[in-house]
Amino acid sequence: MLCLGEVCADCDGSSRLTKGSGQWEMGETESVVMTTGYGHVNDQAKKEMPYGDISIQIDSLPPLPCSLERLLGIMQDENSSASDLESLIRHDEALCAKILRMANSAFYGLRCRVKTLSRAIMTIGFHEVKSICLFNLLMDSFPVRGNVDRSHRERLWKHVLMTARHAAEIACLRPWVSKDEAYDLGLLHDLGWLAMLVHFKDDYQIIHQIAADRGIPLYLAEERHELTHTQIGKWIALRWGLPEVYHRVIAYHHVPEESPSHRPAVKIVSLAHLLAHMREYPDLVESGFVETFRLDLRISRCEWQGHLGNVERVRQEVDRLWRLLN
Ligand SMILES: [Fe+2]
Ligand SMILES: [Fe+2]
Repeated sequence: MLCLGEVCADCDGSSRLTKGSGQWEMGETESVVMTTGYGHVNDQAKKEMPYGDISIQIDSLPPLPCSLERLLGIMQDENSSASDLESLIRHDEALCAKILRMANSAFYGLRCRVKTLSRAIMTIGFHEVKSICLFNLLMDSFPVRGNVDRSHRERLWKHVLMTARHAAEIACLRPWVSKDEAYDLGLLHDLGWLAMLVHFKDDYQIIHQIAADRGIPLYLAEERHELTHTQIGKWIALRWGLPEVYHRVIAYHHVPEESPSHRPAVKIVSLAHLLAHMREYPDLVESGFVETFRLDLRISRCEWQGHLGNVERVRQEVDRLWRLLN
């Protein structure tokens, strides 16, 4: 592994920036690996689980469904291909129909009708199809009942998709993690919001009310209510036995400096999340956090300015995808 010999600003000067096989790494000390694979939670992970009423609520959440476990496996496997995705989708009639319908929409402007799933995946794109599958399977895992406002669902979906796209593009600038991993982390970073929308509806409404009454961002309103989507997301990630990098991103994307490990991945998703919020909170993007994270990730000012020019394009692509899906 080639050591670039630069002192890494992320890790108090004690670690070094290394580069090997196309992926950058920080020589930070990793904490004890808490999971042994999907669905397996060891004792260390159990210590981080909540207590009391929240614990009962988390325990009542659905276990990791088999199909979602399979998809996460495909997402984690760098050798996975469109055919793995195809075999997963083939077992889900509704999903299959959705993918075919989408490939045949006017947007893709194909002259011949797409009749096979493999052709549909090629037309739409592996990442797009993967995110549609993930979203559908997550929605099945957290079925929205009652009067949850559709606009909340739409906002959340668009936000995670924009975050995933920005994260992948940032990872292309500096591959601290692979583009695919960054994309997947972006897709799952707000898992806690999804759970809150469905299983902690009263808290969700109270938090929105606090944010509206005080004119503060939702994450600050959550802190006042003493229940955050990052905690809930982390508990679900632990319960599902997701790999450690997912816990870290889910738990620390609002405070990357506090993450005990995987800080580059957390910072990439954090930056991506801020860009996805650029329209609602333009001041955040101008804040010192962004500049610090940009420097920590070794992204030059010029590269960053170039990336900022993509924000509107990403927004439009996500809007278009949402329309095609609904
Ligand atoms: Fe978040
Ligand atoms: Fe977010």
